[in-house]
Amino acid sequence: MIYKTFDQFLDFELLDSGNGYRLERWSNIRLKRPDPQIIWQPSLPQSEWDNVDAEFVGSGEKGRWNKRPGLATQWEVYFRPDIKFVAKLTPFKHTGIFAEQAANWEWFTELTTPSFGHPSYPSSTVGGENIGGPLRILNLFAYTGGATMVLTRLGHSVTHVDASKPAIAWAKENQALNKFPPESIRWILDDALKFAQRELKRGQKYDGIIMDPPAFGHSPTGKTWKFNRDLPILLDTCVNLLSDDAKFLLINGYATNASALSLNNLAEDAFAERGGKIEAGEITLKHQIKSPHNKDITHREISTGIFARWQN
Ligand SMILES: C[S@@+](CC[C@H](N)C(=O)[O-])C[C@H]1O[C@@H](n2cnc3c(N)ncnc32)[C@H](O)[C@@H]1O
Repeated sequence: MIYKTFDQFLDFELLDSGNGYRLERWSNIRLKRPDPQIIWQPSLPQSEWDNVDAEFVGSGEKGRWNKRPGLATQWEVYFRPDIKFVAKLTPFKHTGIFAEQAANWEWFTELTTPSFGHPSYPSSTVGGENIGGPLRILNLFAYTGGATMVLTRLGHSVTHVDASKPAIAWAKENQALNKFPPESIRWILDDALKFAQRELKRGQKYDGIIMDPPAFGHSPTGKTWKFNRDLPILLDTCVNLLSDDAKFLLINGYATNASALSLNNLAEDAFAERGGKIEAGEITLKHQIKSPHNKDITHREISTGIFARWQN
């Protein structure tokens, strides 16, 4: 089991965790959001926890945001100087950005664009030169397009699939915010599994595939998605969609009853013939603490989801 967290996310910071809540900074907006796994005590004083712009109270459909008067309905959040996102407070306690995914974004940036970050790399150019050229990437259950924006900035060619019209509309806002041309991303409003199966029949190939399926979901026509029932079929389909020199495949899971080990076992079977390296674990967020009891404890890490990832 491994734990992965990101090195850098310019505008996001987990400030503290405790008593069932996270305290976070998203640019200059401070949020307090529930997280039921947080059964320990906060490390910052109450005054820090009281100093928030919005707090989500309750849970699920019955939950709501208590906002300070005058709080903007949306604002910009920078991941890196050249990648930003539109943040909004959604009715289900989210902001449209899963910051912890930055650990995966850093991983596939390194795998697909080893020269990224090098002073000679034209990071502000869409379609900039990558080692091996731009790659074809399939992003399934792609939501507001965090991964899509990062890969597009790296110059890759992304097919972004989601069953929700509002999610695709929000992803297009992110495309516009980053000043990517309209044709830079291929938008598909469809059921992820149906689309992948159709791409296989059409003989399409991808150099990298990302999937972030929910525990339960719906296709645009109302067909249900069930993680445990449908993921094995989707994964097999996607392994067959990978090109001969494909670089990566990533499975991410939130709020499912699957474990990282179950994803690992599934991936091992799916890639048995192909080979390559598989790793699985939990994706985390981290904040500093000063433990009064143990000077060696300087950080606290919280689990946000599970992943399994394959690389060639
Ligand atoms: C957990 S979110 C993905 C988070 C995203 N990858 C990120 O890092 O920001 C799940 C997404 O799956 C979509 N979805 C649910 N069922 C689907 C289906 N059957 N086919 C395609 N997308 C689906 C939802 O609309 C939602 O946008």
